[in-house]
Amino acid sequence: MRWFEQDGQRELADLVRHDQRRWLVTGAAGFIGSNLVESLLLLGQEVVGLDNFATGHRHNLAHVESVVGDAFARFTLIEGDIRDAETCARALEAVDIVLHQAALGSVPRSLEDPVTSHDVNVSGFLTMLDAARLAGVSAFVYAASSSTYGDEPNLPKQEDRIGRPLSPYAATKLFDEIYAEIYWRSYDFATTGLRYFNVFGQRQDPDGAYAAVIPKWTDRMIAGEDITINGDGETSRDFCFVDNAVQANLRAALIDAGEGARVMNVAVGERTTLNELFGLIKSELAEYQIHYDRSPVHGPERKGDVRHSLASIERAREAVNYAPTHTIGAGLVQAMPWYVEERARLLAGE
Ligand SMILES: NC(=O)c1ccc[n+]([C@@H]2O[C@H](COP(=O)([O-])OP(=O)(O)OC[C@H]3O[C@@H](n4cnc5c(N)ncnc54)[C@H](O)[C@@H]3O)[C@@H](O)[C@H]2O)c1
Repeated sequence: MRWFEQDGQRELADLVRHDQRRWLVTGAAGFIGSNLVESLLLLGQEVVGLDNFATGHRHNLAHVESVVGDAFARFTLIEGDIRDAETCARALEAVDIVLHQAALGSVPRSLEDPVTSHDVNVSGFLTMLDAARLAGVSAFVYAASSSTYGDEPNLPKQEDRIGRPLSPYAATKLFDEIYAEIYWRSYDFATTGLRYFNVFGQRQDPDGAYAAVIPKWTDRMIAGEDITINGDGETSRDFCFVDNAVQANLRAALIDAGEGARVMNVAVGERTTLNELFGLIKSELAEYQIHYDRSPVHGPERKGDVRHSLASIERAREAVNYAPTHTIGAGLVQAMPWYVEERARLLAGE
């Protein structure tokens, strides 16, 4: 059953279906963006996607097409860069709602090349924000990040208590929130920043130096390769299945989106250590007769990482009635066929 067919979500699905709107999803060929496109198309919407394929993939969009079938005719792709004002203006033609996901993710990437991360995540964000203001869209929802909590030690993380950023990536996401706030004060342009906490699910890139932990480990376990845990494995995260993030975007876009510069956590409100995660992926793969029998190798802690992360999701619950449909376990169950079947197909070059 799809997330929007579950109890508590059908009203939202009806609200989306009620009018046919035109949505702009930036970063549409990426992980979260392509999942937004998929749900919106299934809910009868018209979607424009903007992407420059810096980290996104055409095969993500091909996979969306295979899932949604004829509804893919309501999708238009604009290949271009969010740092280009004209491209942003073109992508925004006749658009009602913006879900801005395009950015360069990853703390290690930003440590390697802070200037490009800033350029895309801050200058690109500002260019898109300004174009959306000028276009007069009815809602602007953007991907913020739990990294904004930085060195704030208290758990669970609450939106109005943030520390100092611990990486260039975290700084870029904080800048975005500051600009969003300034746009409300200066131009009455309302926004919602969704502070995602470790989102995972189908179509999250397992390849490359900057892959996130769940796709990276799952792929390695399928291939029978070593898994390295940074540190002692007791580092914990609030892993959030992508359907929860999609739900939060649609709620933020349609419920009271016209006031202020809101920010809200998007997570489950439960934390899992890396050691526990290792066991969870291993046992889910065993359901597919993939038996991983190696022990993890422990490496050094990673620079810029926070030790523990756990969200309070009260604000999103109160503001937009957000209620996660998937825990980490349920999310792994749903994502695993993609890893096992789609990845196998891709690796075989089909
Ligand atoms: N995945 C997570 O756990 C997580 C956590 C916190 C925040 N976020 C944020 O969520 C958003 C989406 O992340 P994701 O995990 O889907 O990453 P992703 O890399 O899969 O998707 C990002 C997409 O943006 C595109 N893009 C990058 N630079 C661009 C540019 N200059 N112009 C146009 N398109 C560009 C990429 O090609 C890619 O398709 C990002 O803003 C990220 O910072 C993600």
